[in-house]
Amino acid sequence: MSVPREKFLSNVWRDGIFKDKVLFCTGGAGTICSMQVRAFVALGGNACITGRNKEKTEAGAADIATVRPGAKVVGVVADVRDIKAMDAAVKRCVDELGSLDFAIAGAAGNFLAPMSQLSSNAFKTVMDIDAIGSYNTAKATLPYLMESAKKHKNISPASPSGTGGRLAFISATFHYRGQPLQAHVAAAKAAVDQISHSVSIEYGPFGITSNVITPGPIGGTEGMARLAASDETSVRRSKMGVPVGRWGEVKEISDAMVYLFSDAGSYVNGATLVVDGGSWRTSGSGGEGSAWRYPDFLLSGGEVTGVGGGK
Ligand code: HXC
Repeated sequence: MSVPREKFLSNVWRDGIFKDKVLFCTGGAGTICSMQVRAFVALGGNACITGRNKEKTEAGAADIATVRPGAKVVGVVADVRDIKAMDAAVKRCVDELGSLDFAIAGAAGNFLAPMSQLSSNAFKTVMDIDAIGSYNTAKATLPYLMESAKKHKNISPASPSGTGGRLAFISATFHYRGQPLQAHVAAAKAAVDQISHSVSIEYGPFGITSNVITPGPIGGTEGMARLAASDETSVRRSKMGVPVGRWGEVKEISDAMVYLFSDAGSYVNGATLVVDGGSWRTSGSGGEGSAWRYPDFLLSGGEVTGVGGGK
């Protein structure tokens, strides 16, 4: 599947800025992450993506590699909940691609469920994928990111940009206010943010930056296709709830990643880059709140059906 470049990257970045650099990305076959990896590879880098589904992960890697002649993209089957699997995936990345300079903790699990239908195991499952998975990703990659930061002399005031040793976590805004049907995800994403904030302080002195990217409602993603109501009225109401009047494009998340990982982002550490058109500030009057079948839930007297997760 060939994806036109303008779909995953804005036309403002210089080719080759990630030449010979290596990105490790969990959940790299999902829509948002695969487009971020595609952008990184298009700009000169190589990448290793992980996922639980072998076919999806390997096909995703092969597809991303078509973005640039000579690009190397490795797909590794690994469950982010398992630290041993993450350690092995990182090792394979370094063995096959020679280094690990950037990492994205992107794997996530999501389904809509009111508290009344959310079992303890369902809550734990999402905490394990999002929170423990992000911790495991950071834990497994940080030793290599430190090597990269050292190599690129991020630590030297004479060479502050470095462009190696950067970590990004994909989070959400659900926990900034309340989000119906998302107690499990909101709790997990709050934890993800705090892991990044701690890493930014503890590893900043080693030349590493750690930041959070929070996508709002983004059109054309598996998540929105699965979780948002798709009838015309709901879509229009949802877009009206976003201050800029539209859903975001996937490339707007890739652009955020490129900014944080490029020279331009060298002094950004411990930050949260919210890419949601101002959506969360509408306090639930629009954006995801109305897109994600909350009205259905209210009207049906507390039932949400047909919104289970995929793998
Ligand atoms: C209530 C549910 C449920 C649902 C699963 N469970 N789906 N409970 N409503 N719709 C419960 C199960 O009954 C079980 O609890 C527990 O959750 C674990 O389910 P499993 O299927 O055994 O778990 P697992 O196979 O590990 O799958 C994890 C998953 C699945 C999260 C449930 O959806 C998944 O793997 N998702 C990965 C892909 C994904 O969702 N990506 C989302 C990215 S989009 P019991 O008690 O029965 O044992 C995203 C947001 C996009 O993050 C935001 C856009 C703005």
